[in-house]
Amino acid sequence: MTNPTVDIINSKAAGRVCWESPANIALIKYWGKLHEQIPMNPSISFVLRDSVVKICLDYDIDPGRSFGLNSFQLNGTENEVFSKRIESYLKRLQSLFPFLKHTRLRIESHSTFPHSAGIASSAAAFSALALCICSVESKLQGGIHDEKFYSKASFMARLGSGSACRSLYSGMVLWGASDKIPYSSDEYAIRLDDARIHPLFMTLKDAVLIADDSKKEVSSSQGHALMEHHPYRQERIMQSRSNLSKLLLAMAGGNTSLFAEVVENEALSLHGLMMSSNPPYILMKPSTISMMEKIRLFRKENETDICFTLDAGPNIHLLYFEKDAAIVTRFIREELAPLCRNGRWINDAMGDGPKCLISE
Ligand code: PMV
Repeated sequence: MTNPTVDIINSKAAGRVCWESPANIALIKYWGKLHEQIPMNPSISFVLRDSVVKICLDYDIDPGRSFGLNSFQLNGTENEVFSKRIESYLKRLQSLFPFLKHTRLRIESHSTFPHSAGIASSAAAFSALALCICSVESKLQGGIHDEKFYSKASFMARLGSGSACRSLYSGMVLWGASDKIPYSSDEYAIRLDDARIHPLFMTLKDAVLIADDSKKEVSSSQGHALMEHHPYRQERIMQSRSNLSKLLLAMAGGNTSLFAEVVENEALSLHGLMMSSNPPYILMKPSTISMMEKIRLFRKENETDICFTLDAGPNIHLLYFEKDAAIVTRFIREELAPLCRNGRWINDAMGDGPKCLISE
């Protein structure tokens, strides 16, 4: 993607922009990179409705001065670890947004979900931040929030956290070049055309079942790095591409059983890759397995195509359709919640994508 580095920093400007952006859950997993922030394979996800991060950015541009990040607050308190990550991210963006060198920034971030829920807050946070920065640029240039704006924000979000580039759109979202989908790219995500998705898949719900809320022993970045010399790297690339084709087929034709088969295969393969890495590691907990078994049994006995997926962590994302909400909620309360850590689960669903809250 080319960036119009127009000289827009010839006068002072100040203001505030706030965006709310959602976490997303992958159906086809991004696991492993070709090189920095370029995925080894295309992935598909959808955004969540309630698990969101809100970022407010106060900016003060003075072309005669150079600034760095002035302050960063996470849920109302200063946070050194996040601050450092955000600072190096912003430095990286300076070549794409020259005005950042001359901007004093104050960033506040609030998430609606606990970090310990294992929902990827970095995807929501980096997409919200990328949107804020693109908004400032667009205001300075008198631009609008059109398709190009979102592609650019997706491109920027990817540089902060790969999967963040998929948090920019509602519906089903694809990141990664695929010969199956025109205009797909490794550099930013695109929304899959509604004509490709049976309406049933637009009513997906996601119950996040907390199997464990302690800090993970191996981070996602370490996991991606272990894919570089993974003995099954080539097989994984082939498998993910084949799963992508099957999932597209399932979603176009309203084939819920094929959907469930592919989604679970992706989740289990992701964890299989972790277990066969060098060194190997296990993120699932005994209760993760018990819940997966219960979900499979429920599917069989009730002939409903509910299914599970997992991120790089032990918590289950139980996916089901709006039409099955009543029986599935009872199933969760009676059989799955007792297996969750302190009975905790989050009742979420497919969302509408990011929202601009303030732009002044
Ligand atoms: O974007 P990252 O670096 O946090 O990696 C995300 C990896 C998975 O959540 C396991 C899969 C995915 O596609 O979201």
